[in-house]
Amino acid sequence: MIVDTDGREYVDGCSGTICVNIGHGVPDVLEAISRQSRLVTFAHRSQFRNQPVEDLSAVILSITGHGYREVVYTNSGSEAMETALRLAMHHHAGTGRNIIVSQRPSYHGMTVGALAVSGHPPRRRNLEGLLNGAAKLEQVSSSCDTEILPSLEDWLSVLERMDPARVAAVVLEPVGGAASGGAETDVRTLRGLREFCDRTGALLIADEVMTGFGRVGEWFGVTKSAITPDLLVTGKGLSGGYLPIGACIVGERVMPGISVAEVSMGHTMSGNPLAAAAALAVLTYTRDHQLVSRAREVGAYLRRELALIAESVPFLRPPRGRGLLLGVGIEQDPADFATTPLNRRIVDAALRNGLLVYPSGVDARSQSVMVCPPLTIRDKEVEMLIARLTRAVSESFVAEHVGGA
Ligand SMILES: Cc1ncc(COP(=O)(O)O)c(C=O)c1O
Repeated sequence: MIVDTDGREYVDGCSGTICVNIGHGVPDVLEAISRQSRLVTFAHRSQFRNQPVEDLSAVILSITGHGYREVVYTNSGSEAMETALRLAMHHHAGTGRNIIVSQRPSYHGMTVGALAVSGHPPRRRNLEGLLNGAAKLEQVSSSCDTEILPSLEDWLSVLERMDPARVAAVVLEPVGGAASGGAETDVRTLRGLREFCDRTGALLIADEVMTGFGRVGEWFGVTKSAITPDLLVTGKGLSGGYLPIGACIVGERVMPGISVAEVSMGHTMSGNPLAAAAALAVLTYTRDHQLVSRAREVGAYLRRELALIAESVPFLRPPRGRGLLLGVGIEQDPADFATTPLNRRIVDAALRNGLLVYPSGVDARSQSVMVCPPLTIRDKEVEMLIARLTRAVSESFVAEHVGGA
């Protein structure tokens, strides 16, 4: 529960921006931050290593398992995506490979490189001039009117049409967030893209900023497919919102024998000991309290309940997503979407009913309301979430029906 300064209570149905995975004010995390703050709060990685970062990397690499060798730290998910893109370019330096292929819709961050590979027209508005770097971008869209994300065939037809020897990297979110509200890239497509990259030498980058560290009921969004992307991009749930940190987890195939932490340079605050101590405490808490399986179980229940709500309202579509990264799709005429998107209306009605949910999608087809509570949500709060969402949806339905606001 979240209480505002006027004493109003809200059920947190979206973990802030799908980031506060273990809730606020967890004593273990506050204590870890406080302990670290008394030891050292800054140590530049070009001069010193620091213990929280060393320990955090060991934990992250124990979670990813085989196939990864190094973790490069940043202050955000966007910067972690920038790091992955830079590493892909370094990896292919001198080979003429400079095409990055991503999908539409997608969202990879607000910094210039990350936004350049994002299939998110509203967030790119007025910025196209900034987004035409040396790397060439290709985007793959679904060829089917009723599907949000491209199929393996859609991907391969674009990839094979261009010269595969020019492709530096393929980038995707295993389960979509801000751009596609829980739309999933299926296992067959993930495996097919891994196979394409193995065959052609391109790198596979999985953007796990939203999906990573338990949110989808597995440690990562790609876990289910058993593939090993070359670069895993993370943020958000890594520190659960306690302090800013992102990380790019580097696979063994990327620049073998070279320290990527040095090549990627990073930022003044990268590898900050305080942020690393917070992240370490969050991952330890996640593991000790079995929150990954909790996300899977509560997510399965919540998804069934969302399906029931969706069945009873003509403009809702069946829920999509996995674990506690869920989105309820919305059916709306594109012209009406352009003026009054229904997802915003539902989010506003939810707020009035004491529930925080998140609007997502780039157009009428992908719009949704995301329902992504913290992994620690209690059973009673799940019931409150469902009741308040039901009320918000029926208020929006009435408004929609009478053509009101
Ligand atoms: C999939 C994905 N990638 C990257 C980002 C960017 O992360 P940040 O906002 O921490 O820069 C986000 C943020 O929403 C995201 O959902």
